[in-house]
Amino acid sequence: MIGQITLYRDTGHIRQAAGRTELGYLFLPQAWGHGYAAEACAAALDWFASALPGEPVVLATQTANVRSMRLAAKLGFTEVERFEEWGAEQWFGMWSPATLSD
Ligand SMILES: CC(C)(COP(=O)(O)OP(=O)(O)OC[C@H]1O[C@@H](n2cnc3c(N)ncnc32)[C@H](O)[C@@H]1OP(=O)(O)O)[C@@H](O)C(=O)NCCC(=O)NCCS
Repeated sequence: MIGQITLYRDTGHIRQAAGRTELGYLFLPQAWGHGYAAEACAAALDWFASALPGEPVVLATQTANVRSMRLAAKLGFTEVERFEEWGAEQWFGMWSPATLSD
């Protein structure tokens, strides 16, 4: 195992995500920089789009997390808002099936 991708119905740990499906990703540092996370997330979103057509997916990450921000943009997430939480600026984005890029 080199990492994990999660898609789960948010129960409200982030107010903006409550009741929505949220994407999470977490890979071991030695697996970074190979495109594995992008490939795995794209496959998960592709599956999600056929399982629940038309439903958006949300994502929250710290703006200071450069790799995560780059991955979110690559996957086609667009910014909804930024907010302060856990002592840092957070980025909240949304993805819809039509915005998935390659
Ligand atoms: C966020 C995270 C998953 C990103 O991992 P990542 O490996 O940078 O993401 P990608 O899969 O998009 O890979 C992109 C890198 O692979 C490189 N790459 C190498 N071969 C590649 C290929 N064949 N195809 C695509 N990209 C490739 C890209 O050039 C890019 O490198 P760069 O970052 O040096 O520019 C990872 O940093 C992580 O697990 N962090 C800890 C957990 C975390 O912060 N999660 C978010 C909390 S909300």
